[in-house]
Amino acid sequence: MNASFILSPSLLSADFGRFADELAALEDAGAAWAHLDVMDGHFVPNITFGPPIIKRLRQKSRLFFDTHLMIERPERYLAEFRDAGADLICVHAESTVHLERACAEIARLGAKPAVALNPATPLSAVEYLLPQLFMVLLMSVNPGFGGQSFLPFCLDKVRDLRAMIDARGLSTHIQVDGGVTPENTPALVAAGADILVSGSAFFGHPPYGERLRTFHEAARQGSA
Ligand code: DX5
Ligand code: ZN
Repeated sequence: MNASFILSPSLLSADFGRFADELAALEDAGAAWAHLDVMDGHFVPNITFGPPIIKRLRQKSRLFFDTHLMIERPERYLAEFRDAGADLICVHAESTVHLERACAEIARLGAKPAVALNPATPLSAVEYLLPQLFMVLLMSVNPGFGGQSFLPFCLDKVRDLRAMIDARGLSTHIQVDGGVTPENTPALVAAGADILVSGSAFFGHPPYGERLRTFHEAARQGSA
């Protein structure tokens, strides 16, 4: 498998009654990351789970917890998510007035800081923060639900962000989340994404080990 490409399966499409088993199955399948979608019913119209569940899962899993916060004013909960075991904490630019402060706090807590942008949010929202970010998450659907279709203009956005990062000589990762499939993976990787999230196109297609290899093979085509 391509070592520099990461697929982060989103538990939003896993069996909510068997999260611990699903994480174990991901680990057995060779996955390194798990994408945890935290939703508060305000920033997005859906509700999922918070720090107590992440804390219990942390005790059972060694996967890298890629924690995507779709909550209003996430600065109120950063320490709780870190204490629960989040390895990376991603906050939406649209969810807080003081984005730089939130990112600095995530780093201070010892987690990898990341910022997510909704599809319509311009890259300028994150431009000056790039040097202090481990990753930028470009949403390619409007967040809140799994199983939506990829918004085609987001491919240009990946390309523009790749150019912005390379022009500055930075190593910030680009993650894409929403409507990602093995079919659009080659184009996303060719455009400059190196971490992809997949919910429905991953969990709907067991066995997981085989599906993971399918994504890696598609990524290899994009980087060729
Ligand atoms: C959507 C979430 C995604 C979601 C993606 O708001 O942020 O992580 O699980 O699901 P798919 O891959 O089905 O679009
Ligand atoms: Zn997500």
